[in-house]
Amino acid sequence: MTDNGAVRRMLLTNIGELVTNDPGDDREGDELGIVRDAAVLIEDGRVAWVGPAVHAPSGAAATAGDAARHEREDRREGEEHRAAWDADVEIVDLGGRAVIPGFVDSHTHLVFGGDRADEFAARMAGRAYEAGGIRSTVSATRGATDDELRARLAGFLAELRRQGTTTFEVKTGYGLSVTDEARLARLAAEVTDEVTFLGAHVVPFEFREPDGPGADAYVDLVVGEMLAACAPHSRWVDAFCERGAFTAEQSRRVLEAGRAVGLGVRVHGNQLGEGPGVRLAVELDAASVDHCTYLSDEDVAALAGSSTVATLLPGVEFSTRQPYPDARRLIDAGVTVALASDCNPGSSFTSSMPFCIAVAVREMGMTPAEAVWASTAGGAAALRRTDVGALRVGARADFAVLDAPSHVHVAYRPGVPLIAETWKDGVRVA
Ligand code: NIG
Ligand code: FE
Repeated sequence: MTDNGAVRRMLLTNIGELVTNDPGDDREGDELGIVRDAAVLIEDGRVAWVGPAVHAPSGAAATAGDAARHEREDRREGEEHRAAWDADVEIVDLGGRAVIPGFVDSHTHLVFGGDRADEFAARMAGRAYEAGGIRSTVSATRGATDDELRARLAGFLAELRRQGTTTFEVKTGYGLSVTDEARLARLAAEVTDEVTFLGAHVVPFEFREPDGPGADAYVDLVVGEMLAACAPHSRWVDAFCERGAFTAEQSRRVLEAGRAVGLGVRVHGNQLGEGPGVRLAVELDAASVDHCTYLSDEDVAALAGSSTVATLLPGVEFSTRQPYPDARRLIDAGVTVALASDCNPGSSFTSSMPFCIAVAVREMGMTPAEAVWASTAGGAAALRRTDVGALRVGARADFAVLDAPSHVHVAYRPGVPLIAETWKDGVRVA
């Protein structure tokens, strides 16, 4: 609504290629639901109409200069069309560029202190990636003030927007004490509704045997006091079910406890080797199981028969020099695949979804169209959201304008800043 209570209307016109992710009768045959020479009518931050500009309810104003002529045409076409114009439609001419839904980054770890550039450099000199590096970020995070972490988050938020991301999830997991995990959940909730409680990231120093009480005692804390402190700020619960982190039984305890207090389930699994993560995720009807780098045929079959999304994180394999996950195998088996950044200081310090798309296309067997879908509609599926990830009537008007004529260029021009504009809820934010 505007200040005087009128509906705020805006017509985006002159869109050379519009990716809707909504295959319709008048759309090209793939899942991207492409409309050429398109227009989108936005009302109060939501998509009110989408289609070829010549059929736009405003009278098909292809450019701002055509507005007056089309207004006259509209006025002959009846009450319904007049309504759109009567309310001061703002015309936005996108100059023939491509528009895609805003990226939905369904997996990040953006609340942390410090960085691990030295660890990255050592890895590039031949050292292997180990989950244990997480503990060095835990020390840096515990030592950071709320305002330091907030400033860091604000910087990442600006970075995300510049790169076309309009919805993002943030996990806790670098606090690993009741006070610090609750603090991270609270700070994450200041920037997103998609907060995930990841107290079960690794066992912190003070619990590790032989001097500490051990992993099971830590899990007792996670499912008790820590969950109670974090759940009010969180939508999801997650566990790192992997060698060096938590067993299937420990992960199950955490995930079931989270679910019992109303949190949705997601799992980190099959990152460093085959293991029980994927099957546990499917058994618990998790919204997503993330990494999926090492999968058995049984894992793939289990995912294909489930509503659990496989979220692949190309930045991790890029930065750890592990083999990339096989997206082609999953898609061909009928699994829903999402792409996400996993932005964190250890295994993947990129917040760039265009980078992830380029790597997924080059290294993981995805087509450019599949990779764009996986980073928008796929991410929305991984967060079980229907209001983002597609430009269909009723959805949020979240989108990116590309400095390019088609979505293919995102993968075709790696490293080039093609995101010209980012819009969220019908407002330009970058
Ligand atoms: O998703 N896999 C576990 N957690 C992160 C890594 C975090 C870190 O290395 O700090 C991930 O890759
Ligand atoms: Fe992660």
